[in-house]
Amino acid sequence: MKIGCIGCGNMGGGVLKGLVPHGEYQLFGHDHSRSKVEALDAEGRRVAWAESPLALAEAADVIILAVKPYQVEAMLEEIRPALDSSKVVLSLAAAVSQEKLMQGAGGLCPVVRAMPNLPVIVGKGVFALCFDDASLAGSRKAELLGVFQKLGMAVVLPERLFPAFTSLVGCGPAFVFLFMEGLLNAGITMGLKASESRELVAAMVEGSAKLALESGESFADLRVKVCSPAGTTIRGVNHLERNAVPGHVADAVLEALKRDMEMAGK
Ligand SMILES: NC(=O)c1ccc[n+]([C@@H]2O[C@H](COP(=O)([O-])OP(=O)(O)OC[C@H]3O[C@@H](n4cnc5c(N)ncnc54)[C@H](OP(=O)(O)O)[C@@H]3O)[C@@H](O)[C@H]2O)c1
Repeated sequence: MKIGCIGCGNMGGGVLKGLVPHGEYQLFGHDHSRSKVEALDAEGRRVAWAESPLALAEAADVIILAVKPYQVEAMLEEIRPALDSSKVVLSLAAAVSQEKLMQGAGGLCPVVRAMPNLPVIVGKGVFALCFDDASLAGSRKAELLGVFQKLGMAVVLPERLFPAFTSLVGCGPAFVFLFMEGLLNAGITMGLKASESRELVAAMVEGSAKLALESGESFADLRVKVCSPAGTTIRGVNHLERNAVPGHVADAVLEALKRDMEMAGK
């Protein structure tokens, strides 16, 4: 499969970089800055530089759009001469609907709306994909899902759940990093060096996430396992509960959802 990415910043760069070790794909990249494409592949052999968005669309079977949402429409117009039913346009842009993608592609090829998150940069992305059912065969959908499963976790979701996925999983890393900043500061306050505190917090969060994934237990049951009777953790947990932190976290996601709706013009 020939996969090209227009826009090789955080998301597009993360996707291409994650696919470099998978020799079955032929990769192409285009960005305003050629150095961003060249930096994706230290040996410089696996990601071919495309001179323009149109040249990339001509060379690739799967054209990934990883530019900002407001740039998607113009980009589709630019690559339209290269589109036909053998191609697939896959957009990573937040709040750009499948209908808009289909219009932008002029109905010339199938479109896929996908939503990534930042950990794709380290091969631990979580993706949602929504397919254009009418024009994509089941085998092609499975192939595309397989590409994103190589970059972390990928699920198929109906488009009506994209705003929820975006607010929870797309924005989620920022909420987790904010929580981690609080923990980091606590470590420094108690006398740890900033670098030590940072390493310890990141490893602790990674371990907690791994435990949650592998055990399959509810988050509440796992939390109770850390809270010994009359112990230290329950004092901290009570403080967070008194300050309604879980409710505030849920509200942060719902605020992001409101903004996603605004951006989609709803
Ligand atoms: N970041 C996230 O956590 C996240 C999460 C979910 C979804 N997304 C979606 O992913 C998409 C990309 O976001 P990002 O964070 O990867 O943005 P980014 O880091 O700014 O990357 C976009 C890249 O595209 C380049 N570009 C823009 N227009 C171009 C053009 N006409 N020709 C060539 N290159 C062009 C930009 O170059 P210049 O900087 O020089 O313009 C930049 O290098 C967005 O649509 C966003 O909604 C992002």
